[in-house]
Amino acid sequence: MKSLRIFDTPTEVAGAVADRLAEVLAQHPRPVITFPTGSTMLPVYREIVARSQTGQLDLRGVQGIQLDEYAGVDDHTEASFRAWLHEHLLAPTGITAFHTLPAHDPTPAALASYEQVIASYGGVDLAILGIGGNGHIAFNEPGSPADSRTRVVELDRRTRQANERYWTDSDAFVPTRAVTQGIGTILEAREVLLIATGAEKAEILHEALHGPVSEHVPASLIRSHPHAEVLADAAAAGRQPSDSSARESDRLSA
Ligand code: F6R
Repeated sequence: MKSLRIFDTPTEVAGAVADRLAEVLAQHPRPVITFPTGSTMLPVYREIVARSQTGQLDLRGVQGIQLDEYAGVDDHTEASFRAWLHEHLLAPTGITAFHTLPAHDPTPAALASYEQVIASYGGVDLAILGIGGNGHIAFNEPGSPADSRTRVVELDRRTRQANERYWTDSDAFVPTRAVTQGIGTILEAREVLLIATGAEKAEILHEALHGPVSEHVPASLIRSHPHAEVLADAAAAGRQPSDSSARESDRLSA
């Protein structure tokens, strides 16, 4: 893993992600980028959308890749991750190329074809990730194999509870299964950027970065990637804002 960078606020983290995106776009006019959904990403996407609307970032050449999705959803499911991304990122930035998971009918052939299409793009340049309260990345729940591929998974009770807010009906309506890129799939990206903000992520982020590299904490597995970077706010990093050490870039070993 390359480094952990700590910022005072989620807004500063968002600025750093947008800066990195600008660098990637300067290197490749048509970069292949994996985008997550979730609360962590809201300020990040707000910043990216603001820069795009003021002409500072042009994302129209981006080939977006879907990272995870509930199983069984279709184009009309309002609570789908695809609909969420469309609203918060794709439509306002004009990203029209978006490769989706075969969430409605995730047959083995469709899942394999999803990965083959990514390979036909030449692989992923940048995988942006969040981290779940249980250490999941995408929907790779604890225990997911490090070499796992895109597949159907059962969601943890805790993950379903965390996602209840997106489903207007009761918990019973949060799907029990999801389709997710595997950890092996994610780690094939040339660069991985994991974003963590808020005190509620502090304990799991500490475990992921300083505990054993283990399938029990899927996010810890990114430490084996030579170009993985974690961007955290002070709260998620367990530091006080404006702590002079909070602005340092720590080097971490795998
Ligand atoms: C969602 C995804 C998840 C989230 C994680 C954190 O597409 O990949 O792994 O990144 O659950 O979610 P928030 O940011 O809502 O805490």
